[in-house]
Amino acid sequence: MTAPHPGAAGAPGAGPAAPPVDLTVRLGPLTLANPVMTASGTYGKGLEFRPFYEVGRLGAIVVKTITSEPRAGNAPRRLVETAGGLLNSIGLENPGIDEYVRTYLPLLRTLRAPVVINIAGHSPDDFAALAARLDPEPGIAALELNMSCPNVAHGMDFSTNPEAAKDVVTRVRAKTGLPLIAKLSPNVTDVRPIAKAAVAAGANAVSVINTLLGIAIDWRRRMPVLGRGVGGLSGPAIKPVALRIVRDVSRAIDAPVIGIGGIQDADDAMEFLVAGASAIQVGTANYYLPTACVDILDGLPSRFAALGATKMGDVVGTLRDPLQTA
Ligand SMILES: Cc1cc2nc3c(=O)[nH]c(=O)nc-3n(C[C@H](O)[C@H](O)[C@H](O)COP(=O)(O)O)c2cc1C
Repeated sequence: MTAPHPGAAGAPGAGPAAPPVDLTVRLGPLTLANPVMTASGTYGKGLEFRPFYEVGRLGAIVVKTITSEPRAGNAPRRLVETAGGLLNSIGLENPGIDEYVRTYLPLLRTLRAPVVINIAGHSPDDFAALAARLDPEPGIAALELNMSCPNVAHGMDFSTNPEAAKDVVTRVRAKTGLPLIAKLSPNVTDVRPIAKAAVAAGANAVSVINTLLGIAIDWRRRMPVLGRGVGGLSGPAIKPVALRIVRDVSRAIDAPVIGIGGIQDADDAMEFLVAGASAIQVGTANYYLPTACVDILDGLPSRFAALGATKMGDVVGTLRDPLQTA
């Protein structure tokens, strides 16, 4: 995996301590103390990171996707490192909603950070049933709809065309007043019409991107490395693609965008904010830099100061057009 940027939080050259900035973020009805969130599937139950830092400092914790029924996940091998990236084929392994509500949710309530529950259904009605089940539970800040998992059969069906996206969000919206984040797939020609459909149907925010479909090959065996053949690519290798999609989607919809993809330090986070993200999620970096999230949070004030920015609105979506500034 690539090394963090020089000048990342705490590194020599990061500059003197900056004045406090207001990092408060509004994602529709959801207000977060800061824009740093964890990405689903890469942060365990949050508890695993307690030895490293106070996880309650984060803007929000997004947990691994939960489904109606327990899932064992895909056959091994399920992870392979690639150049600057990680290819995974976990396949939504999780204990199912009943066990989740019984044993996991009480643990998550002890985290002291807003908790976003990520759900995936096998049909629009299944999504709606999950939302209905979680709606009365206390301590849930928002639902993130995983409409874009590349590692299960039909997992991306709900974010590869606008009608399907609209159907899922409409049915979920009918079952809950919780803030809704639609997590969309990059594995389409254009994410914008799908994002527009999700927002029109009641999503309060859109998160992009989920992983990019990829394949790793062991040529000697003439076999794919992963047990399922294909997997989802994450990590620094996907950052430029994610930045492009965040820029395009944030300009196309009238709702906040949460940027995800290869973020490992505060400079990466700033790139996403400037591109148009109102908040960011950190995924793969949690595996190799366990303090990545809190380092990013601590690194933001000095980066804001470098732009003369004191609040999120001074930074978010301020990307210039090279054709006009050249
Ligand atoms: C091992 C692994 C498991 C993941 N599991 C989920 C999941 O259960 N639900 C989901 O919405 N996204 C899942 N993702 C996707 C991440 O949340 C994120 O969208 C993606 O990894 C891109 O961000 P990153 O480059 O910072 O990792 C997973 C990613 C990885 C690497």
